[in-house]
Amino acid sequence: MQAQVRAENLSKTFRVGFFARKVRAVESLSFEVRPGEIFGLLGPNGAGKTTTIKMLLGFVRPSSGQAFIAGAPAGTLASRRKLGYLPEHPALYEFLRGDEYLEFAGRLAGLSRSDARQRSATLLERVGLAGRADRRIRKFSKGMVQRLALAQSLIAEPETVILDEPMSGLDPIGRKDVRDLILELRVEGRTVLFSTHILSDVEAICDRVGIVVEGRLTDCGALHELVAPGARAVELVVEKIPQELSDRLAASGAQVLKRDLATVLTFSEEPKARQALASVLEAGATVIAFTPHRRSLEELFVARARGKAATS
Ligand SMILES: Nc1ncnc2c1ncn2[C@@H]1O[C@H](COP(=O)(O)OP(=O)(O)OP(=O)(O)O)[C@@H](O)[C@H]1O
Ligand SMILES: [Mg+2]
Repeated sequence: MQAQVRAENLSKTFRVGFFARKVRAVESLSFEVRPGEIFGLLGPNGAGKTTTIKMLLGFVRPSSGQAFIAGAPAGTLASRRKLGYLPEHPALYEFLRGDEYLEFAGRLAGLSRSDARQRSATLLERVGLAGRADRRIRKFSKGMVQRLALAQSLIAEPETVILDEPMSGLDPIGRKDVRDLILELRVEGRTVLFSTHILSDVEAICDRVGIVVEGRLTDCGALHELVAPGARAVELVVEKIPQELSDRLAASGAQVLKRDLATVLTFSEEPKARQALASVLEAGATVIAFTPHRRSLEELFVARARGKAATS
């Protein structure tokens, strides 16, 4: 199956300052996004995510390597025809009203006036701006601008959607709305690539992830491939646990924390947590929660980011 997005050995070196000092933003980066999947490009600030995305769009010319969208070389008309894009810092025409802007974007994408109007109304609803887009963008809050820009990226019903930090600037409800929207895009058969430095967004919605640190792809694959399930950390919250049992679990490596009436036991591995759960139940304690955390993705991410920082 042909990849919907493909980066082949992409590298980008910028020249900065009077002495044209070299800044290596991206180095030999290769990955593929398959049709219909949600791919997360995860990396710390300055890792090269935006530069990579701009090369995929053809806005930044690679120093070497190449990129393709639906088989067409990045930057060509064919590659952009069915592509939607949300920039990192959306700069919209502030003197237009939200709804006017969206219709204008639709017209630019080649929609008829009535289609542009209809899609714009549907999308305003989808991004939670219905009824609030009749004011000038100048008067929008940051989150509203982000939502409108996201709607703009979808106006032409693109096959592929590339979103540079789509959740940035959004409140918790907005973040959830955007996650849900991205999941809906997948249901509709679209391919989504988005960048983020927020692990929970990746865990919640991505089919596959690429970790970028200092311009290089350190890891790429499905979450379960990157992080062994057995390595999940688990938080077990119980009430009325006998002191003796709590001491015993602490001695065997669990982290024990008293919180109000409850005792919070944290285990670094799931099998240990399951054993503890059995003994807690046997002792007649009340189990409030048993929550596996993929803390190991965080660990992997931090290890990669720190490792690079330590070697550079
Ligand atoms: N136009 C440019 N000229 C010079 N250097 C640049 C340019 N664009 C990016 N860089 C540098 O390239 C590196 C990667 O930047 P990039 O914006 O791609 O990172 P990012 O992963 O998107 O970070 P963030 O999470 O902060 O958005 C940084 O060191 C940055 O300073
Ligand atoms: Mg960026």
